[in-house]
Parts: sequence; C-alpha cells; structure tokens
Amino acid sequence: MGRIDRCYNIADLRDVAQSRLPKGVFEYLDKGTEDQQSLGNNRHRLDQTKLLNKVLVDVSDVRLDTQILGKPSAMPLVIAPTGIAGLTWFEGEYELAKAAAAAGVPFTLATGSNTPMEKVAQESGARAWFQLYMWREKELSYELVRRAAKAGFEALVWTVDIGHGANREHNLRNGFSTPYKINSRSIVDMLRHPEWLATVMGRYMMNGGMPEHANYPEQYRTNILKGGERKGGGKSTAMRADKVSWEDVDRLRDLWPGKLIIKGIMRPDDAQLAVEHGADAIVVSNHGGRNMDSAPATIDALPRIVAAVGDKTDVIVDSGVRRGSDIVKCLALGAKAVLTGRATLYGTAAGGQPGAEKALAILKNEMKRTMAYVGLQRTSEITGDVIWRAD
Ligand SMILES: Cc1cc2nc3c(=O)[nH]c(=O)nc-3n(C[C@H](O)[C@H](O)[C@H](O)COP(=O)(O)O)c2cc1C
Repeated sequence: MGRIDRCYNIADLRDVAQSRLPKGVFEYLDKGTEDQQSLGNNRHRLDQTKLLNKVLVDVSDVRLDTQILGKPSAMPLVIAPTGIAGLTWFEGEYELAKAAAAAGVPFTLATGSNTPMEKVAQESGARAWFQLYMWREKELSYELVRRAAKAGFEALVWTVDIGHGANREHNLRNGFSTPYKINSRSIVDMLRHPEWLATVMGRYMMNGGMPEHANYPEQYRTNILKGGERKGGGKSTAMRADKVSWEDVDRLRDLWPGKLIIKGIMRPDDAQLAVEHGADAIVVSNHGGRNMDSAPATIDALPRIVAAVGDKTDVIVDSGVRRGSDIVKCLALGAKAVLTGRATLYGTAAGGQPGAEKALAILKNEMKRTMAYVGLQRTSEITGDVIWRAD
C-alpha cells in the first residue's frame, strides 16, 4: 500500500506533502500572509456554516455533474491557478491538468507556471483555462493573451487582487522566495529533502536545467532563479497590478475571443462592474488568504455578490475548500462552482497526477455523501434551504 492509498482526506495528503517538500516550498504552498487571519477565517466560517440533513427521501442516484461556462463538467469544481505547482512535482501543473482531465473538470494554468501553455492546452486533455497577471508593460501581457488564444485555451482568468503583492513573513524567515534564491537556508532545506531534490530538481536538471517561467512574456522568460527580471538584466517590473482599471477589462474583452473571468472579487459593486465590462464569470476570492490578511471569509462575501449579479453571470468562489461538504455549502449560498487551490496542490505534491486524482476523488466522494445527507440528487437542486439558520 503506497502513501497515497493511506490518505483518506485532504489533511492526510497535506501531511504527505509536508514530509516530501522542503520547508520553504511547503510553507509557500500552505500558509497565508502576515498573521494568517484571512487563511484561518476562511476555514472557520466554512466550519461554522452548518447543513440540515433531510430524511426519508430517495438518494439512490446522486449525481454531481453540472454546467460551468455553459459546458458540462463532472462536478462543480475547477482547479485554481497555483504558480508553484511545478516546484511540488516535476511539471506539477501538467500532472494537475491530466488529473483534471481524468476527473472531467476544468484546469486553470497560472502565469507563473513552468510547463509551456501549449503543452497543457493541447496534450493534457483538460478543459484548459489560462490565468493572467498584468505586467506594468501591458503590451507584454497582451502577447501572452494572444499566445493563450492561439494555444486553444477556453477561458482567460484575469487575477486582479494582488495590488502590491503579499507580505509573507514566513518566507522571509525560511529563506524561500520567488525568484528562488540559493542561500545557506535553502540549500540545507533541500538537502533535508533528498527525494524532492532527486525527483523534482533532479529531473529538471536532466531535462534542460532549472525550471523556467515558460509562460512569462518572451523578455522575462528566465529560469526561476531570475523570475521577474528582464533577460540580460535590467529593471524588474514584475507582475504588478497597481496601475490597472476597468478599461483594462474592456481591452482584454476586445483581445480575447473566449470566455473572460475576473478573479479576486469581494464586493457587490465590483461584481456589477465586472458584468458591465463583459465578464462571463467572476471568482469571489481572497486568494486563499494569501494576500490581504484583513479580508472577510469568501463564504460571507458570497451571498451579497450572488444577490447583485447571480442572475447575470456565473459566480464561482474559492478560498478554504478542503471537504466535499464545503462545496455543497458554497453552492447552497449561490455559487455555480468552486476553485480548489491547496486541496488539489497537496495531492500533486504528495504524488503527482495520481495524488491530484486522489484529492479530486476524495472531494467527489465527500460531496456525494453530503448531498445524500441533505436529501438531494442533483447539483441544480442545492439551494439555501439546506443551510441551518439559528434564527
Ligand atoms: C501555492 C499557491 C500559489 C498560487 N498562485 C496563484 C497564481 O499564480 N495566480 C492566481 O490567480 N492565484 C494563485 N493562487 C490562489 C489560488 O488560485 C486560489 O485563489 C486559492 O488557492 C484558493 O484557496 P485554497 O487554496 O484555500 O483553495 C495560489 C495559491 C496557492 C496556494
């Protein structure tokens, strides 16, 4: 029996991921920012949301299939963009994409990923979405948008909630950073994790060298030691969304032929604007508690946003999903689907594609069981009626 077979929930996969990964990489994956309040509160508020079980109804044929962006999906789940997947496993994002294809759910490739977007879109078999960060030199981002359209991505996900970037003090302490820095702490950390060193870094070195930011604009397509720097040196302008406006959504709408999704919405008025500017869907997200530490839980922000735009656009939500019951709660509060970041990344870090498939299977089984408890057989039947309200 392998390590993955002994994982019965997402927390078990997290434990395996923690034992495999260098501390710096694991904490980058796992933690939030500053005092970890937003991270903890996402979970706390999901845990506090309770479901009512309904008895003596037929639950012999529970099905999770649904429509996301007007196309069938095996369950109301999409894999979130996570720039670091390729450091948790060799070509980790490709492993995740193949797992998504096997499970019949869409996969989102992050701008910061290491596997070239063409390979993911054309060879993984997944419904592929591409996540964009905007460079200050916007024309460079438009190049990526054109490249993603040519590669055949179904949707463009523009992440708008990074502002001035994140204050991740744990990464200052453990020595991990992006760009990746080789220093005494990171070397000791790597040497303490020889399996990771051999199977992740070792495989990259045998396949052409350090992993690259394969989906950065040409001028910035350096390896992870130089991420964000211009080739040949020069000032880093990185992916900063600090000079953007709703007019940039119009520009992307004109450029992008497929579905356009705005990720990182927490206010009903911003959700309205996203719809007015042509977004096909929005993601209610606080980036998994990784950016602003004072953010409310997304499960609390969701109902107001659904009330504002739920009849006009697909509202997707993320941040904190670790159990199938969490997905039922999000749907009950009006979401069309959830994104999973860490849950599926723990699976990838624990065991590549089979690990990611295990994470998806766990969430699927838990969701099915929860639907049976609340007495529903179809995702379209899930409404606020299943939520316990003390008053
Ligand atoms: C390690 C890691 C890297 C991430 N990188 C990105 C990224 O490059 N782009 C992006 O839009 N979101 C990124 N996110 C945020 C996720 O897309 C998603 O919003 C978040 O993980 C959801 O919360 P959850 O991890 O609790 O599921 C990242 C999340 C993690 C955990």
